[in-house]
Amino acid sequence: MIVGEAPGQKEDQEGVPFVGAAGQLLNKLLASIDIPREEVFITNIVKCRPPGNRDPLPEEVATCSPYLDRQVELIRPAVILLLGRHAVQRLLPGSDGISKIHGTMVERGDRVYVPLYHPAAALYNGFLVETLEADFRRVRGYIDVVEARRKELPPVPAPAPQDQLSLF
Ligand code: URA
Repeated sequence: MIVGEAPGQKEDQEGVPFVGAAGQLLNKLLASIDIPREEVFITNIVKCRPPGNRDPLPEEVATCSPYLDRQVELIRPAVILLLGRHAVQRLLPGSDGISKIHGTMVERGDRVYVPLYHPAAALYNGFLVETLEADFRRVRGYIDVVEARRKELPPVPAPAPQDQLSLF
């Protein structure tokens, strides 16, 4: 699962997360570690576009929190990639800043997170592209570790059929 910040203009028009410039870079990063985008549930902490692409307000993050929490609960992702500081603050509150923890595997409860720079940040600051590429290579290894661990555990029951998910 990948969690970004909020839809941009293009995402808002199309109703699909990460379809703009940052999404193109994200697609390349996923392809570089042989993960088909179709196999990843991609969403944002805030479900509507903040006007003028401003940072989401705390009350907007709070309003959308139950949706994101339920998405994570239903999907039970092996690993949750957190793109940018807003996603990190939302799902790993109280953690160190992204410049310190990017690319590391953080385990909280039964969840595994990997904080990463936001691809949009790498579009502005080209030097971050290499860092993101290197961090994604580590992600591949983390997924393999978590999936191997899961195979050793008894299967978790599937969610009830009424638990339908909206993709956005
Ligand atoms: N940036 C985000 O954080 N999310 C998107 O869906 C698009 C750009």
